[in-house]
Amino acid sequence: MIEQTLVLIKPDGLKKSLTGNILTRLSETKLEIAGAKIVKVTKTLAASHYAHMKDKPFFPELIKYLTGELHNRKKVMALVYHGNNAIKLVRKICGSTNPEKASPTTIRGSYGRITTKGLFENIIHASSSRKDAEREIKLWFTPGELIYKIYPVIKTKKQTEFLRWK
Ligand code: PPS
Repeated sequence: MIEQTLVLIKPDGLKKSLTGNILTRLSETKLEIAGAKIVKVTKTLAASHYAHMKDKPFFPELIKYLTGELHNRKKVMALVYHGNNAIKLVRKICGSTNPEKASPTTIRGSYGRITTKGLFENIIHASSSRKDAEREIKLWFTPGELIYKIYPVIKTKKQTEFLRWK
């Protein structure tokens, strides 16, 4: 089944110069990149992305991690991968969310760690379901930033040349 999935290379991945390695690993999936950009993540964006984790004790650290405050590297690489079985294929190469449980050959198993405060610094985020992927892609990308109109769009009245998510 053709799917889309959101991938975030987190600030520690950028700080450790792992972008090239990670993109090479992800290319093993033979999926197509439908969108890519570098984002300076605000606290609001990070909190929306992790809204389902807001009651967790590590939530404040999670926000500091994604905004780059923990690594003094305030950027994230955001990508949308498109193709058959995209969600599962990408999650397999990423490995388990907990980097200590991730297979050593996966991205998280190779490069992730757990901080002394118990936060997973797992280098990469990948959507876990089609529903999450849709929510996350709409949060991180505008329709015009993707090569396909993968979700329905509407034209705004004031600026007809710009599209926004319905
Ligand atoms: S999953 O695997 O995507 O379904 O994970 P989910 O449970 O939805 O989201 C958990 C995110 O919180 C990050 N995180 C932790 N989770 C559990 N325990 C600890 N200690 C912890 N520290 C951080 C975890 O990495 C998930 O974020 P992403 O960006 O998906 O890795």
